[in-house]
Amino acid sequence: MKEHYAVAIDGPSGAGKSTLARALAKELGFVYVDTGAIYRSVGYYAYQRGIDPADGAAVEALLPEIQLEMVYREDGLQHMILNGEDVTKEIRLPEISMYASRVSAIPAVRAFLMDMQRDMARTHSVIMDGRDIGTVVLPQADVKLFLTASAEDRARRRCLELEERGTPEPYEKLLEEMQERDRNDASRSAAPLRPAEDAVILDTTGNTFQQSFDLLLQTIKERL
Ligand code: DC
Repeated sequence: MKEHYAVAIDGPSGAGKSTLARALAKELGFVYVDTGAIYRSVGYYAYQRGIDPADGAAVEALLPEIQLEMVYREDGLQHMILNGEDVTKEIRLPEISMYASRVSAIPAVRAFLMDMQRDMARTHSVIMDGRDIGTVVLPQADVKLFLTASAEDRARRRCLELEERGTPEPYEKLLEEMQERDRNDASRSAAPLRPAEDAVILDTTGNTFQQSFDLLLQTIKERL
């Protein structure tokens, strides 16, 4: 038996990766690692400092000032600690999504965050979600899943989520943002969003949470 297992879940934003990965990690007793949160933390730092997130040189110059930690608390959440401050809530603000997407296209940012992600997988059994986990971060992962759904379906989910959170946004706006972020994430030259050759591609369009959960759990168990 192996000491640690790694399950990689990649896919576009809003495909349900984080909700599913969190529930699957609980079921399997693995640590859920949300890698989007670390890009969001860097994006948030650029935002705080008033730096244009598309300015690669300016963002790269910020990196030596950034100390980032992932901490797992009793609430089961992955907390992001940025220079000693818990920014777990702040990085979820809607304006930070585009900052995260922009800074994540900068190769120096991706290199800066790589060890942190690999260290987690070296020391724990993980379910790690992101955009390039199966292709770049953990190419040796035991299971690679690529989760996708139509942009309309993903925007609808995001719409419901924001409504439940008490910060509603119009569907049309969310759809447009979703499509813009997809374009950014898929067209960048540094680790663009694409399925690994040996990934299992799962389309969750129209699925309930339970249907997707069962499908993913079965797929993972068959492969571990
Ligand atoms: O999963 P998320 O929406 O929290 O991710 C925020 C942004 O970070 C997303 O637009 C793309 C980027 N990202 C990335 O480039 N690579 C990852 N492994 C995870 C996220």
